[in-house]
Amino acid sequence: MSLDGKIATRDRDDASFSSRADRRFLNEMRAKADALVVGAGTVRASDPPMRVSPRSILDGRAEPRRAVVSTLCLLAADLKVFGKGPRTTVFTTNVASPGARKALEAVAEVKVAKGDRVTAAEILEEFAGLKCVQVEGGGELIWTFLEEDLLDEIHITLCPVVVGGNTAPTPAGGEGFDFASMKRARLVSSRREGDEIFLSYSLR
Ligand SMILES: NC(=O)c1ccc[n+]([C@@H]2O[C@H](COP(=O)([O-])OP(=O)(O)OC[C@H]3O[C@@H](n4cnc5c(N)ncnc54)[C@H](OP(=O)(O)O)[C@@H]3O)[C@@H](O)[C@H]2O)c1
Repeated sequence: MSLDGKIATRDRDDASFSSRADRRFLNEMRAKADALVVGAGTVRASDPPMRVSPRSILDGRAEPRRAVVSTLCLLAADLKVFGKGPRTTVFTTNVASPGARKALEAVAEVKVAKGDRVTAAEILEEFAGLKCVQVEGGGELIWTFLEEDLLDEIHITLCPVVVGGNTAPTPAGGEGFDFASMKRARLVSSRREGDEIFLSYSLR
């Protein structure tokens, strides 16, 4: 995120403001994860393949499973996350039209949540038995996990840019907590590389 706590510009475009070192760190984290989960807004904004690159850093491990969360299921079937790589799971809701869900069934495993939102508990239930599920954003999906208190760790790279804007997304969107219920974290590690600071926090 930027110095002022934004994860994208006000246009929500896909230009990354982090360094090569940060992207390498993200890949290393992915290589250790068993599943990667991302929100539909992020997939639409930047079409990430959600794969480990280079594959050699997997060191013989299976590539992590991939999942996209979307209320409406309005996602193009030719997005990279549905292409080469482990078959992707789409978590969606009954609010999505049967047509939209069917269109994705050709390229993904589609799971329909009980309510009009996908809960973090439902996602983790699907991945039961896996040790590490990495939630890659954006802010709305991360809020889902925070709200249900199902996030163990937060990893933030503080990047030397100022983005500004009232509508630029932040790491945690949603309704937000009030003072009494806000989450408190413990700093586990911090490391400087160039002008960036890599921070790891525990929420437990
Ligand atoms: N700097 C970074 O590290 C970083 C990381 C990730 C993302 N980003 C940026 O963040 C922006 C996207 O953020 P965002 O706030 O739009 O968040 P997002 O979580 O990526 O996308 C929001 C959409 O995801 C779906 N969604 C999320 N949680 C859901 C839930 N619990 N149940 C059902 N659907 C759910 C909904 O999809 P539908 O609209 O399909 O119904 C919702 O509209 C992009 O600009 C992206 O580039 C930056």
